[in-house]
Amino acid sequence: MAAGKPKIAVIGAGLMGHGIAQVFALAGHDVTIFDSVKPSLDSAKARILTNLKDLGDDQKAVERVTPVADLAAAVREADYVVEAVLEDLPLKQKLFAEIEKHVRPDTILASNTSVIPITRIMEGLRRRERALGTHWWNPPYLVPLVEVIETQWTTPEAVDFTMQLHAAAGKKPAHVKKDVPGFIGNRLQHALWREAISLVERGICDAQTVDDVIKAAFGRRLAVLGPLENADMVGTDLTLAIHKTVLPDIDSRPGPSPYLEQLVAAGKLGFKSGEGFRRWTPEQQAALRSKVLKHLKEARANDV
Ligand SMILES: NC(=O)c1ccc[n+]([C@@H]2O[C@H](COP(=O)([O-])OP(=O)(O)OC[C@H]3O[C@@H](n4cnc5c(N)ncnc54)[C@H](O)[C@@H]3O)[C@@H](O)[C@H]2O)c1
Repeated sequence: MAAGKPKIAVIGAGLMGHGIAQVFALAGHDVTIFDSVKPSLDSAKARILTNLKDLGDDQKAVERVTPVADLAAAVREADYVVEAVLEDLPLKQKLFAEIEKHVRPDTILASNTSVIPITRIMEGLRRRERALGTHWWNPPYLVPLVEVIETQWTTPEAVDFTMQLHAAAGKKPAHVKKDVPGFIGNRLQHALWREAISLVERGICDAQTVDDVIKAAFGRRLAVLGPLENADMVGTDLTLAIHKTVLPDIDSRPGPSPYLEQLVAAGKLGFKSGEGFRRWTPEQQAALRSKVLKHLKEARANDV
């Protein structure tokens, strides 16, 4: 690997790709970005600049981002390639097979898939030992976590390199040692969502009450107190006693809730149809989106 800051190539300039490029550019890396859709590629730098302005970050960082309309040219010099194209397994497999033809043998290859097993995406590569997953969260420049997922083939060196790369770029990398569905973050998140839906389905409370309870109680603490820290704080003995009483009554069905399936079948798709678990006017949707963004910006400002 060449001396100096690793050169980054980002494949896919959509919602996640342009944000990932922005993070690496702001951290001082030279970044090439490729997208097969011209308007998406052509607008990437303008979108990054808008974000940098909005966040009060160094606007000159955008000068380190180079959009490249040819995949081979985009990855040829790269030390690290991260893919953020559509969530489509054959597309990702095809892309990595093509990318591998043009990169050095030691270039690290990463996929930002949300849920596709990294093993499936990378199984066809000639050098599977340099491939892994990096699961960013939206928006990439505001949410600190990046899950670094190894497969059965990934070398410890590739994992270490990727962990250090992201830590040095100001992210909070988390090492996922086995390529399991949902990695860590989405397994935890959706364990909570399953019980949230179940509480509504069983008539214990309505959807707004579920959200109110979380936001007004343990949600307040979650950003600074993880569940296992919390368990230690209150005592593992108390945690055991609580689990003996509560776990038998918590939803443990292996599939999606029938209540959720009915909502989808009835066209109640959430914001996009105006109703999901609750009804949403366009004004309420906009207000909630901007509340989340404001919260994430304030949290980032507090981190610094
Ligand atoms: N949106 C999220 O919250 C989120 C979070 C974590 C991970 N992800 C994952 O990140 C990836 C990208 O998601 P997104 O939300 O940025 O999607 P997006 O639709 O905003 O962007 C995808 C981009 O890929 C481009 N593309 C399509 N085919 C291509 C090809 N053959 N070569 C190059 N570019 C191509 C599209 O033109 C588009 O610009 C997906 O795998 C998704 O599951 C998304």
